[in-house]
Amino acid sequence: MAIDKNSALEALKKVNDPELHRDLVSLGMVKDLAVEGTTVSLKVELTTPACPLKETIGKDVEAALKSAGATAVKIAWGAQVRSAPGVSSASMTPGVKNIILVGAGKGGVGKSTVAVNLAVALAQLGAKVGILDADIYGPSVPILTGVTEKPTSKDGKRISPLHAHGVAVMSIGFLVDPDQALIWRGPMATGALLQLLRDVDWGELDYLVLDLPPGTGDIPLTISQNVKAAGVVLVSTPQDVALADVIRAKLMFDKVSVPILGLVENMSAFICPHCQTETPIFDKGGARDAAEKMGIRFLGEVPLDLAIRVGGDKGLPVVAGAPDSLQAKAFIEVAKQVAGSVSQQVVKAPRLPVIGQAVARG
Ligand SMILES: Nc1ncnc2c1ncn2[C@@H]1O[C@H](COP(=O)(O)OP(=O)(O)O)[C@@H](O)[C@H]1O
Ligand SMILES: [Mg+2]
Ligand SMILES: [Zn+2]
Repeated sequence: MAIDKNSALEALKKVNDPELHRDLVSLGMVKDLAVEGTTVSLKVELTTPACPLKETIGKDVEAALKSAGATAVKIAWGAQVRSAPGVSSASMTPGVKNIILVGAGKGGVGKSTVAVNLAVALAQLGAKVGILDADIYGPSVPILTGVTEKPTSKDGKRISPLHAHGVAVMSIGFLVDPDQALIWRGPMATGALLQLLRDVDWGELDYLVLDLPPGTGDIPLTISQNVKAAGVVLVSTPQDVALADVIRAKLMFDKVSVPILGLVENMSAFICPHCQTETPIFDKGGARDAAEKMGIRFLGEVPLDLAIRVGGDKGLPVVAGAPDSLQAKAFIEVAKQVAGSVSQQVVKAPRLPVIGQAVARG
């Protein structure tokens, strides 16, 4: 059986992206297809450099081409992060392809820790990433990233973000004193945040991670209504009380049509550094069960761990400070799942506009 470019293409039309449930050709992921004798070479352009299924796709491509007569398959990998139609042009954050909200569980469950390590992991995997700290009453991104300088402006109009660990960083804490913010009325606080969103010059970003304040109050609600987010990452400990907050959060995001990218279980079992015994201090597996019940993706488990806390306090996220550690690997796995979930949202049919949204959406 001789293979030519046409039959190779036909074979590739039968290979589905396992997560996007469409074939690679109609997804526009096949580039530079060439056939020489029985050797097929092509570039597969993934929808994110953090693709969790790269290996599976590679194997499927090879198998499909070989069954169509190829004896050798050479795959070059590329990635082009996409955004939902109309996102970057119409939004307050031009140039930002996808906004990932991280929130709204109760305070102290590790939202900011997850947000920062997620951002750094996505950058390490090859994406252009920024993080915006929107916790006006308790900004923690400056400490977690070790960024303390005041941001500056090149043109006197827009603010340039700072940089750390390969990520562009901006915090409301750089500009507003949290004690001052506490005495503001709600609209002032949300106004300051929306202004910050508009005023930062992010340049080109694949992902902007937005670290939300706890709960489902005014601020998370207003942000959800005003930015066109790819979706929200929910963070919870395995404990029942924390999970109840997540269910509440899911209801709020459903109401404002923000897709749920999935749920992370943080402070999952503690692994003793001396004897490796696993102790489920806040219980274990509760978030996985809850995700299943709610019909949302489970994004992974992050252990309760000293290195994670110490890294946070030092401004050196564990993903940057000890990239080969088990702790870092847990975050990297979460980052791949989040990126996969974003790609799924982007490829899906366009969503209905959010109620109260002034800007027309694509
Ligand atoms: N997996 C973890 N292991 C150990 N400490 C953690 C972990 N996640 C978060 N922490 C610590 O818990 C505290 C609260 O985390 P933070 O990310 O600020 O929570 P939130 O943003 O939800 O309020 C911080 O001191 C942080 O270092
Ligand atoms: Mg926080
Ligand atoms: Zn021990």
